[in-house]
Amino acid sequence: MSRLVVVSNRVGPVRESAKAGGLAVAIVDALRAQGGVWYGWSGDVTPEGTHGMLKTEQAGRISLMTLDIDQADYEGYYAGFSNRTLWPIFHYRLDLAQFDRELEKSYWTVNERFATRLYPMLQDDDVVWVHDYHFLALGAKLRAMGARQPIGFFLHIPFPVPEIIAALPGHAALVRAMLAYDVIGFQTKRDARAFIRYFEEEFGGTATADGHLTVQGRTVRVGAFPIGIDAETFRKFAMSPEAHRQGRRLKSSSEHRCHVIGVDRIDYTKGLVERFRAFSRLLEHYPENRGHVSLLQVAPASREDVDAYVDIREELERITGNVNGRFSDLHWTPIRLITRPLQRRSLAGLYRACQVGLVTPLRDGMNLVAKEYVAAQAEDDPGVLVLSRFAGAAEALDAALIVNPYDIDETAEAIQRAVIMPLDERQDRWRQLFDKVQTEDIRAWYSTFLSALGAAGHDTRDAIPE
Ligand code: ADP
Ligand code: G6P
Repeated sequence: MSRLVVVSNRVGPVRESAKAGGLAVAIVDALRAQGGVWYGWSGDVTPEGTHGMLKTEQAGRISLMTLDIDQADYEGYYAGFSNRTLWPIFHYRLDLAQFDRELEKSYWTVNERFATRLYPMLQDDDVVWVHDYHFLALGAKLRAMGARQPIGFFLHIPFPVPEIIAALPGHAALVRAMLAYDVIGFQTKRDARAFIRYFEEEFGGTATADGHLTVQGRTVRVGAFPIGIDAETFRKFAMSPEAHRQGRRLKSSSEHRCHVIGVDRIDYTKGLVERFRAFSRLLEHYPENRGHVSLLQVAPASREDVDAYVDIREELERITGNVNGRFSDLHWTPIRLITRPLQRRSLAGLYRACQVGLVTPLRDGMNLVAKEYVAAQAEDDPGVLVLSRFAGAAEALDAALIVNPYDIDETAEAIQRAVIMPLDERQDRWRQLFDKVQTEDIRAWYSTFLSALGAAGHDTRDAIPE
């Protein structure tokens, strides 16, 4: 069997400890089953001009290989072009995007450096799988060095419609560089369609109904490969002693109360401000919930070097203060905001103890929290998932209460409906949801992607447009 080489900016942690971010969680699950190399950034930043040695570490069947980046790369490539430019644009937030040629230059340089260090380590029969928006151009750099191996790419975040991508200066070179990959995978059919439409409109590309896109003589396979979770393992976590302990603690701190849970990195894409407003609206419009329903929001900090992230955190703290100041009584606090990472088992226990799961991003590639919440529920008394129509997860999880997160009243009404939903309807919806979470699980994700990569034609590689 060929060796699998996974490339992503964020590498690890591998041990089943605190993690925040869907990419790392999914890759650990996939690599643990398959074995292979995981190559990317070490997470360490060195002084300017020093990029450091390749660090290697073995974790079971996974060989970790990482590089440091220096302060200038961190600011230009990671905090800069990846998270100040690409992340907001790909999530439809042109208003937050920063356009700066220096950041773009740094991004291309770092993509090239990671390719240069990887190339000599590749074996002829390796299969390379590159992940996410940090490394859109890495495949093209590997090909330019002569790599002939199958190279696939998966985008964990949305791919926006061409009208939005077109706002990015230098979009043509960047998106065209993706044609170096043999298979290009997206979270949803909608994202795959947007990508194909981009090439049709900008470069006169043509596509077959089964997703073979041809542009200037080069043919690549484009498709939706919805990411999932390890549903069985997560379900076991939710029934573990740690999970029970965590759930009991939550329940005993507030007897006979209904808990609504949200779990998200603090990010402006997650719709946290709108969610808190909807929760406040619930207490206003349905006063019987006062003293009875509380929102537990687990929200670890993320990317705090980027201003927009600091702003959102401050806004959340302000709204939490306002809502709590307005509605709290001696024995009940409406919103609890916890900003530290948790162990997976504790998180699973919290999901299970909460009657409503709120997943209301304004835009999200997939959203694994939605799937984890479903997997963690007790079959005889399951909670209700309230899910944004703008999360990739909504494409399959249509048995959730689907909401438009911009519509505060609609979200408040959905929470109310969830709080009072009769048991038979909860069970019925949950069964449909769990069935999807089990079928579209992590194994289905990596095995369908890797078999598409194995089957991909490579006879047009020489035609990759410059
Ligand atoms: P994103 O990738 O944008 O962060 P996802 O919902 O797809 O969003 O994935 C988030 C992952 O991070 C989930 O697996 C979730 O369990 C995990 N996570 C989120 N918050 C925490 C936390 N406080 N502690 C541990 N894991 C967390
Ligand atoms: C999302 C992105 C990942 C990223 C994660 C955490 O899931 O798709 O690529 O790793 O967020 O963000 P961070 O910037 O901390 O890696």
